[in-house]
Amino acid sequence: MSTNKERIFVVGATGDIGSGVVRGLIKNRIDTTAYVRDEAKAKDLFKNELLTGHLSLVIGTYSSNEIYAKAVEGHTRLFLLVIVDPKRPTSMSDVKGTFGKLAYEKGVRQIVDLSSFTVRSAGKQGIIGYLHTTSEEKLWTLADEKSDTRSLVVLRPGAFMSNQFIYDVQPVKHLNKLISSESLSALTTWIDTKDISDCAVVVLTEPIEKHDRCVYEMGGESVSNEQRATIFSKVLGKAITYEQQSVETLYKMLISHGASHAFAYDIVSLTSENIVANPTPQLSILINRPLHTLEEWLQENVKAFQ
Ligand SMILES: NC(=O)c1ccc[n+]([C@@H]2O[C@H](COP(=O)([O-])OP(=O)(O)OC[C@H]3O[C@@H](n4cnc5c(N)ncnc54)[C@H](OP(=O)(O)O)[C@@H]3O)[C@@H](O)[C@H]2O)c1
Repeated sequence: MSTNKERIFVVGATGDIGSGVVRGLIKNRIDTTAYVRDEAKAKDLFKNELLTGHLSLVIGTYSSNEIYAKAVEGHTRLFLLVIVDPKRPTSMSDVKGTFGKLAYEKGVRQIVDLSSFTVRSAGKQGIIGYLHTTSEEKLWTLADEKSDTRSLVVLRPGAFMSNQFIYDVQPVKHLNKLISSESLSALTTWIDTKDISDCAVVVLTEPIEKHDRCVYEMGGESVSNEQRATIFSKVLGKAITYEQQSVETLYKMLISHGASHAFAYDIVSLTSENIVANPTPQLSILINRPLHTLEEWLQENVKAFQ
C-alpha cells in the first residue's frame, strides 16, 4: 500500500462514482483533493470525510484551467471522470486532454481514467464510443510521451446498474413492466458503480508500477431482459414483465428526457446491435470479493422501485 506521502486529486468527485472514490481514499487515510463545482453540495456530501483532515476541496469547473493547474500541482495521482457537454461531442476529449496534460506536467505520476466498454466493442461507431475513444487516445499519447514517469490506467465499465433509476423506476412502479427496444433475449452487461469506485480505490492505493497501462473492462454479469424481469419479480415480490417497444418510441422517450439526437440514436443502436461488455469475474482479484450481481444491487436499492 502507498504511504501517506501520496496525494490524490479527484475530478468528478461529487458524482456517483467519484464520491465512492473519495470515501474509499479517505478510509485509507490518503490525502485527497476533491475538485468540485458546487462547494455547498460537496460540504454536505463529505461532512464526515472533511472532519478527518485528509480531504480538501478545490472549487472549479472544466473551463477553469488556471485553478485546476495550480491545484493539481503537488499531487501524485489523478482520478479523471468527465461528463460530456451534449452540445459539443469533442468536449470530453478536450477536457481530458487538457486536464491530463496539465496533471502530468505538474508531476502527477498516475492517471486513472473512467472510460467505457464501448471503446473496444464500438470504437468511434456511435457517440458514446466516440467520446471515450478520442479521450483515451489523447491520454495514451500523453502517457507514452514520457513512459518512464507517466502511468495510465483505464477503467472501461459496462452499463451502470444505476441507469435503471433513470429508465425503469416509473414503468416498474406504475405498470409492473420493464420497457426497452431490445429483444427479450438480448443481453446487457451490468456493473454496480460501487464496484467501479472500489476498483479505482485499489488502483489508486497500490503501487503505480503494478497497474501501469492496465485496461480493466468491468462487467458484473450479463443478463437478458427475460432474466432481468425475473430478478425484479423476485426482489419486489410481484410479477414484472418485459415489454419490447419500437426503436422510434425509445428514441422519442430519450429525447423527451433531454438526450441529444446523437446520444439517443446511439442508445437505440446499442439496443439493436447487441454490443455488450464482457462479464469480468476476474476483477475479484483486485477488490478481494466478487462483483455485485444485479439481484444484489436491486435488493440494496429496492425502495426506489416500490
Ligand atoms: N451510464 C453508463 O452506463 C456508463 C457506462 C460507461 C461509462 N459511463 C461514463 O461514466 C461517467 C459518468 O459517471 P457518474 O455516473 O459517476 O457521473 P455523475 O454521477 O453524473 O457525476 C458527474 C460528476 O462530474 C461533475 N461535473 C459535471 N459537469 C462538470 C463541470 N462542467 N465542471 C466540473 N465538474 C462537472 C459533477 O458535478 P456535480 O455533482 O456538481 O453535478 C459530478 O461530480 C461518464 O463519463 C459516462 O460516459 C457511463
